[in-house]
Amino acid sequence: MNNTKRDSFTTGIGVIAATLGSAIGLGNIWKFPSLVGSNGGAVFILVYLVSTLLVGLPVMVSEIMLGRKAKADAIGTLKKLAPNKPWWLVGAAGVLSAFLIMAFYTEVAGWVFAYVIKSVSGSLLSTDPQVTTAAFSQLIADPMQSLIWQWIVLLLIGFIIILGVSKGIEATTKRLMPILFGILLVVCVRSLTLPGAGEGLAFLFNPDFSKLSASVILVALGLSFFKLSVGMGTMITYGSYFRDDQDVPFTAGRVMLGDLLVSILAGIAIFPAAFAFGFEPSAGPSLLFITIPAIFASMPFGQVFMVLFFILASIAATGAMLSLLEVPVAYLNEQIGLKRWQATVVTLILLALIGSTAALSSSVLANIKPFGMTFFDLYDFATSNILLPLGGLFICIFVGWVFGFNKVEELLSNSGTLKNGPVIKAFFFVVKFIAPILIVLILLNGLKII
Ligand code: PFF
Repeated sequence: MNNTKRDSFTTGIGVIAATLGSAIGLGNIWKFPSLVGSNGGAVFILVYLVSTLLVGLPVMVSEIMLGRKAKADAIGTLKKLAPNKPWWLVGAAGVLSAFLIMAFYTEVAGWVFAYVIKSVSGSLLSTDPQVTTAAFSQLIADPMQSLIWQWIVLLLIGFIIILGVSKGIEATTKRLMPILFGILLVVCVRSLTLPGAGEGLAFLFNPDFSKLSASVILVALGLSFFKLSVGMGTMITYGSYFRDDQDVPFTAGRVMLGDLLVSILAGIAIFPAAFAFGFEPSAGPSLLFITIPAIFASMPFGQVFMVLFFILASIAATGAMLSLLEVPVAYLNEQIGLKRWQATVVTLILLALIGSTAALSSSVLANIKPFGMTFFDLYDFATSNILLPLGGLFICIFVGWVFGFNKVEELLSNSGTLKNGPVIKAFFFVVKFIAPILIVLILLNGLKII
């Protein structure tokens, strides 16, 4: 154990920057806009908003509250709050999830970093999707390039993590978040001022109620977990660095809204431009790495905007990865007793090993498919559809049924300092009854049982 004073976030702005930095990520850029596009436009945004309010946000508040109370890593928090009970296993599942998400997330981040360089060099500047498809295939089919970009990402994130919570995570995200918003606005203005942009806006915002179905609702619920980085101990760990005078529900609410704003702006940056040049908005990585370069290549000064866009995506990915890496690092540091730099190095080595199976999924390991999926897809599936909802479910049960209302009221009102009684009551009701039921539905859907 460490006897030195525990590092934490130092300012209110720092708390928001780091937490928002975790929520904003590649999910905003490729998952959210394409899901909005394929699930009824504004209807999906509405359903997502309700899902986030009923599931994502309550789990986020719960995790931050628990972490801040215990002032420990994900496993340590549950050990402290429920001594001699198996609740710490929820934290352990979180550490596992962090590894599995990092394994594939660092690879996608590696491609994004590679695309910054490629867009600067102009090698992606083609309006022909066949050319951009070939460029992407060449990158992912090359085992050496895939591994090297992943290692570059790991080293960069590891370096920031070694600097510490306040000097590393907080200082970095505080600088990066304003740049992210600035670039996003510039790209949005460019996209909106193209002739024919209106069609893309209509695609994004016109509610098509005929697309509303049970599966759309479940997709939105699942996305709210991934988007808000909950269900895997990230927010427990970050919560443990929150200050005691921080208003937890208010902060979490602001982070949720900020994240939603970025998702919608990302849609505005992409769809009007896509429609202006007659591209079909596709889903998944192909939107980011194949369609988007072709869209930018079609517009005046497109190269500048392409570079800006991939810098934006790199920044988004960086904030998210810092929070992912912090989960195992905090655990190894506080529970196993490794120094912070040792914990980081051990985690990086493990990640390079597990991550390589994801990095090589499009090349040498393409034909190895446990459970019928490549390693890359397996890690994505297992975390988004099983581990995160399961983690969130147990957190809700713990807070609603084990922890109880009195403790929750004490913690969320900062011992009575904040006058937020109605908010706490609403929160507790949702956590105890509504969220668990909805999460069970997500789980059953994720496992293709319903
Ligand atoms: N919220 C991130 C995104 O939307 O890209 C992904 C993520 C980060 C998931 C951290 C989970 C996590 F713990």
